[in-house]
Amino acid sequence: MNNDSKADLQQEHSRFVEALGSFVRSHNCGELTAGHIGQEVRLAGWVQFRRDHGGLIFVDLRDREGLTQVVFAPEVSAEAHEKAGIIRSEYVIAVAGYVRARPEGMANPNMPTGEIEVVACRWQLLNTSKTPPFPIEDRVDPGENLRLQYRFLDLRRPRMTANLILRHKVAQSVRRYLDEKGFLEIETPFLTRSTPEGARDFLVPSRVNRGAFYALPQSPQIFKQLLMVGGLERYFQIVRCFRDEDLRADRQPEFTQVDIEMSFVNEEQVMALAEGMIAAVVRDVKGIEVPLPLPRLTYTQAVADYGVDKPDTRFDLKLKDVTDLVRNSAFRLFASAPLVKALRVPGGESLSRKEIDEFTEFVKIYGAQGLAWIKLRPATADKDEEWQSPIAKFLSAQEREGLRGRLEARPGDLVFFQAGEPEMVNAALGNLRVKLGGRLGLIDEKALNLLWVTDFPLFEYDGEEKRFIACHHPFTSPRSSDAASLLADPAAALARAYDMILNGTELGGGSIRNHTAAMQRDMFKALGFTEEDAESRFGFLMQALEMGAPPHGGIAFGLDRMVMLLAGAESIRDVIAFPKTQKASCLLTGAPADVDGKQLRELGLRLREMKATKEQ
Ligand code: AMO
Repeated sequence: MNNDSKADLQQEHSRFVEALGSFVRSHNCGELTAGHIGQEVRLAGWVQFRRDHGGLIFVDLRDREGLTQVVFAPEVSAEAHEKAGIIRSEYVIAVAGYVRARPEGMANPNMPTGEIEVVACRWQLLNTSKTPPFPIEDRVDPGENLRLQYRFLDLRRPRMTANLILRHKVAQSVRRYLDEKGFLEIETPFLTRSTPEGARDFLVPSRVNRGAFYALPQSPQIFKQLLMVGGLERYFQIVRCFRDEDLRADRQPEFTQVDIEMSFVNEEQVMALAEGMIAAVVRDVKGIEVPLPLPRLTYTQAVADYGVDKPDTRFDLKLKDVTDLVRNSAFRLFASAPLVKALRVPGGESLSRKEIDEFTEFVKIYGAQGLAWIKLRPATADKDEEWQSPIAKFLSAQEREGLRGRLEARPGDLVFFQAGEPEMVNAALGNLRVKLGGRLGLIDEKALNLLWVTDFPLFEYDGEEKRFIACHHPFTSPRSSDAASLLADPAAALARAYDMILNGTELGGGSIRNHTAAMQRDMFKALGFTEEDAESRFGFLMQALEMGAPPHGGIAFGLDRMVMLLAGAESIRDVIAFPKTQKASCLLTGAPADVDGKQLRELGLRLREMKATKEQ
């Protein structure tokens, strides 16, 4: 920029400061249509793009609501036109002018404001901008790291703005619904004691109580139960939760829950309330009616048919147990495995060896050694139907017929097999099923398939820790029929827990809680806590349960996941204003970062280990 134009800019600034008091926006950049033609308007926003054309200067002006074309024409205002030469992308300007129809043939039917343009009579520069590191457009993908580093620019992109508007609408819809149902919005502490939700805690050292630590809550679970003991009856909160766990596309170290708890209810009432809330949200933000009640699957059925406890029911492929059919097979792996399951892929014969190899690599993530497959080649004029497969030679005619019947296999199909421990077999084929659904185009991307999964086991065995751990959390109640035998046979106990699944993602989960101290004590015992342990960690909860705790239960939804799925986004990072990377760092602020020695000394802390290398 030469000195002249710098001086121009400075002059503009000071003139604007004088005029600022009188400038009030009359419209936003997304709302002007043919109905406004002839009206005087005042707009403000960012310059998306400037182009000079036949003596005219065109600017696409952007604000939160959209884009409007502004024209600087010398015959309308020579001064405004001349001055417009300094405008660059992402400058912030205010424009006063009038609305006119775009000339014949120039209307843009793809833009809500595409029929009109605003002819500038006056304009003011509100701020300049350095050239941004990437153009502010949905079409351009500058890579996530750059987007996160310049999140304030990324958020100007229409898609990101739309995601945050949607998030706001979802939150408002949730609040409206729960308020109407008599719920109170109550805040709970962030500086608290550890709440066991299965992840690591984020710890906060205390300056006042040196050597002692707060834990950031993994969820407000215990507090919401205490609110029930406190007689508040119906609580909700849209609340940040903190979990130090391995991150994925649908996990963040700090995320938001719609957290709910109710007194004097059973699971039916909690589920009815929760599905009513989701239906209200979908109606409010998508205009779609979700048929209620939602379908339900037991955990056992879900794992049998889909291999996972959060089935994507947008497509119909199901796993089939074929263990009995291959019990005596010449294929040793099949004959000796505790479980053999098959997944028929209709028309999958066309998958290439390369693709099959890729799927084989994929299932190894879940502990599989390999992936057996058979292609059913259709008969041709000179050839019978052929079972093409490295394992075909081991399968007897009887086994083939058995498999064909159970799998309803037809020529042209491909069948995948997995054999081994049930957990591995189900995880490998269940996740392969989802991958295949995407690859073969079986998923209707517009569908919203909601369902409940119920009747979860109360415990799962943790081989590493050599003890039972709670499937949901330690405050979940067993079914009444399992309560008495809890300690004798923990593996058989079912939980009064439920998860809501949307398109194969766990949207929310909850349970009826142990409201008697005796039951909660048994739970702690079954989980291997000594009485002293339980007392020192959860004494305050036990005390509350001994002083008139009402029966209660609740649920928590992942708000980020909910918005992600409703927005059609691929990651929850796209619906969070300032998310962390996969390595849990904030590229915008540089957090987590060093602190100075004085801060550490005040906390009574000294660093022993060298810092981990920072993410680039
Ligand atoms: P749960 O641990 O199942 O239950 O969590 C509830 C919901 O929160 C979402 N969620 C997450 N979202 C983003 N990033 C994460 N790291 C993350 N972890 C969980 C999921 C999940 O379904 N206190 C119980 C609820 C209750 O029993 O009422 C709880 O927190 O969508």
